[in-house]
Amino acid sequence: MNVLILGSGGREHAFALKLSESKKVTQLFVAPGNAGTDKLATNIDINITDFEAIKEIVLENAIKMVVVGPEVPLVAGVHDFFLADDELKDIPVIGPKKDGALLEGSKDFSKQFMQKHGVPTAKYQSFTKDNLEDGYAFLEMLTPPYVLKADGLAAGKGVLILNSLEEAKTELEDMVSNKKFGEASTTVVIEEFLKGIELSVFVLTDGKSYKILPSAKDYKRIGEGDAGLNTGGMGAISPVPFADAAFLNKVEELVVKPTIAGLQKDGIDYRGFIFIGLMNDNGNPSVVEYNVRMGDPETEVVLPRIESDLFDLFEGVAHQNLHEKSFSVTDKTATTVMLVSGGYPEAYEKNKEIKGFDAVDESIVFHAGTTMKDNKVVTSGGRVMAVTSFGDTIEEALEKSYRSIDKIHFDQMNYRKDIGFDLV
Ligand code: AMP
Ligand code: GLY
Repeated sequence: MNVLILGSGGREHAFALKLSESKKVTQLFVAPGNAGTDKLATNIDINITDFEAIKEIVLENAIKMVVVGPEVPLVAGVHDFFLADDELKDIPVIGPKKDGALLEGSKDFSKQFMQKHGVPTAKYQSFTKDNLEDGYAFLEMLTPPYVLKADGLAAGKGVLILNSLEEAKTELEDMVSNKKFGEASTTVVIEEFLKGIELSVFVLTDGKSYKILPSAKDYKRIGEGDAGLNTGGMGAISPVPFADAAFLNKVEELVVKPTIAGLQKDGIDYRGFIFIGLMNDNGNPSVVEYNVRMGDPETEVVLPRIESDLFDLFEGVAHQNLHEKSFSVTDKTATTVMLVSGGYPEAYEKNKEIKGFDAVDESIVFHAGTTMKDNKVVTSGGRVMAVTSFGDTIEEALEKSYRSIDKIHFDQMNYRKDIGFDLV
């Protein structure tokens, strides 16, 4: 069967690698893909919110399944587009329709959903410019730090955590009145600050049953010791040692089951991934956010640990018989370290030739921001490559990732040397 993956990051390279291992997959296509997916699949250079262009690729290449990597096409309704088209409606899309994608597309919606279905999460209220004064009053009732979130998608930049009340009020006004994050901050969610350690749990669901995928922890800050600006993610580890069986059992009972049941009660037929961002506060889970896709770079440690055929699981999602599918995960630890362009997450240069990654033999190199130019692999983004390794322990896996990184080079290459520092 021919499969199309939408996206171009390390996450999509990891999907491509895993799907390429399935006997049931004949030809793989990735749109737009990167220099890594180019080796496993046919890259097709289109804009993934151009649904007519996707339709053309699907029909031309007899594609029988579409796997959506990032949230933007889901929130824009790519799955709904398929269902509404006579020629596409029987081709399964892995990823929710617009109604389900709102779990990530609107923080206000997702908070309402959690409250309605009894999923533990921080107390909150939402405000617009029409009730700004109420927003100030709500802030005054909270204790610092203050958490302000743009309701809509803001490319991962829409969350502000502020220590002073004055600053929080100024930012709130800037968000709702001056559209600091454009239309995304027309509505702002203000919520209680949650204490604890963060981790993520991933769920694959066909809308009725679910599989809980390995947990992971990512390292979002650019600097060592978790300092500096937020990035898309500088590395990840799976499993998470502090997410023991007792904690994961609580997550399943208090978060996963009410989430799946809530979607059903609300008539949302959800087929795809749910990425649950959690705070572990003394063994008690609280949901920080839902995303409607896999995480990046979390996927680069989660998928390699899954031993089952991913395509088979996706068929289960498509045909709503996921409960019949076998699912197993290795006990080994996987770590990934992200190589980034110097300057990222601020301005950085592209088109740097990347050397040495072909010589890596004890890790998997997932390409993220790479492209082919004059037969050379060059950088094309801030996050360039994720170097994933297995080990019996976190230390062993990390040693391999760092040894492999020693072989890779591009001008101004940067990476964190302390991934997992808080866990070992
Ligand atoms: P989000 O986009 O909702 O994941 O928020 C981005 C980051 O802000 C999260 O990964 C957390 O580190 C932090 N964050 C968000 N909400 C809260 C909260 N209520 N309490 C503490 N930290 C939070
Ligand atoms: N690594 C965080 C994310 O994918 O949203």
